[in-house]
Amino acid sequence: MKPVFSVLSPNVEQDDIRLAQNVLENISDYQRKNYAQQLAEAVRQYLSADYVIPFQSGRSALWAIIRSYQWPAGSQIILPGFTCAAAVNPVIWSGLEPVFIDVDHNLNIDLNKVEPKISKKTRAILIQHTFGLPVEMDRVKDLAQRHNLVVIEDCAHSLGAYFQDRPVGSWGEASFFSFGRDKILSSVFGGVATTNDKKLGSEIKQAAQEGSQPSRGWIKQQLRHPLLVDRWVQPYYLRGELGRRLLLILQKTRILSKAMTRREKRGELTAMAPMKMPNELAVLALNQFTKLDRYNNHRQTIADFYRSKLKKLPVSMTDDKIGRVYLKFPIILSDKESADGLLKHLRRQKIYLYDGWKDTPIVPSDVDLAAMRYHWGSCPRAEDLSGRIVNLPTHINVSAEDAARVVQEIENFFAGL
Ligand SMILES: Cc1ncc(COP(=O)(O)O)c(C=O)c1O
Repeated sequence: MKPVFSVLSPNVEQDDIRLAQNVLENISDYQRKNYAQQLAEAVRQYLSADYVIPFQSGRSALWAIIRSYQWPAGSQIILPGFTCAAAVNPVIWSGLEPVFIDVDHNLNIDLNKVEPKISKKTRAILIQHTFGLPVEMDRVKDLAQRHNLVVIEDCAHSLGAYFQDRPVGSWGEASFFSFGRDKILSSVFGGVATTNDKKLGSEIKQAAQEGSQPSRGWIKQQLRHPLLVDRWVQPYYLRGELGRRLLLILQKTRILSKAMTRREKRGELTAMAPMKMPNELAVLALNQFTKLDRYNNHRQTIADFYRSKLKKLPVSMTDDKIGRVYLKFPIILSDKESADGLLKHLRRQKIYLYDGWKDTPIVPSDVDLAAMRYHWGSCPRAEDLSGRIVNLPTHINVSAEDAARVVQEIENFFAGL
């Protein structure tokens, strides 16, 4: 039985693996070429943005953006209450205070709940297009204008998405994208900051220049990820989930990296940020960039299939808006027990859908919420939905047959209840 994975190098195809191998074998050659600049240029053209600055991660890019504004300590930034610690940390590291706003049924910030939380200290609103579903940016711009707030877009999930006639990432004063391991495109680590503002653009560039260069050891860790996941981790999942233990060992022995350090989960500053995007990883992202439309079209096809098949089941789905991309296809079950039960049932069928976006408003689930300045109870809807969510995979390695098997097993689960 072919296993289905939700995470574990979801975007990686054989050419990406061959490329990673080649970079590992000829690392000095790749280091010398200007792939990071080529990547920035490709994104710049795609978004029609004036300035695109590459970073080693989305969180580094966001940190550079926030620091460029030089807001006084204690200033507040508004964020959605359903997010990733990697988006919260740059706020905390800059000495600013995150203010979390509950989400709507689409897992995006509830724009009706923002205004009462705006104070004299509020400087900016961070808009995250969760799992690729664009927030209504005309409403955001209007709100921001009325309260004199800067709009920053978190496009970590949404490369290729549009709101109205403009790509996400072109609405905010500044935006960032991620090429992390399970994003729309992946170079295991990577990201860019974008803006059309000349002064801001040069300040972000300055931050990037001052950022350190990742060590060769760290770069190699990332380059090994697609190779080892494909050759060892995934195949061994079929043998009593040995692959899962193998992954933990590879991470513990630092042969592979983790997506987030233990210190970051406690809100502590990590030596990882802000760093420059190394050419050795940028070349992987560039290769992925040529596949962007194919990947997003594939995701749409799989999502359409899920939507058509699941509407007769007792699950709710997020809106199918024009311009959205489907990083994942979230379904919401009636209660947490059913969601946990479904994940367990699927896992027994070798469909591994646990992706970390579960049981916590700020992922990963072992994050220190207090360190994130999140007060339990402050975003009840995000807390509730995070218990009931199951994200179905849409990535390029999920075939039509895999998607049919996922649906069949969801049907079997409900039939057995
Ligand atoms: C919503 C969101 N924002 C920001 C980030 C940060 O991106 P990166 O992992 O490239 O730092 C992530 C992913 O980790 C994310 O899921």
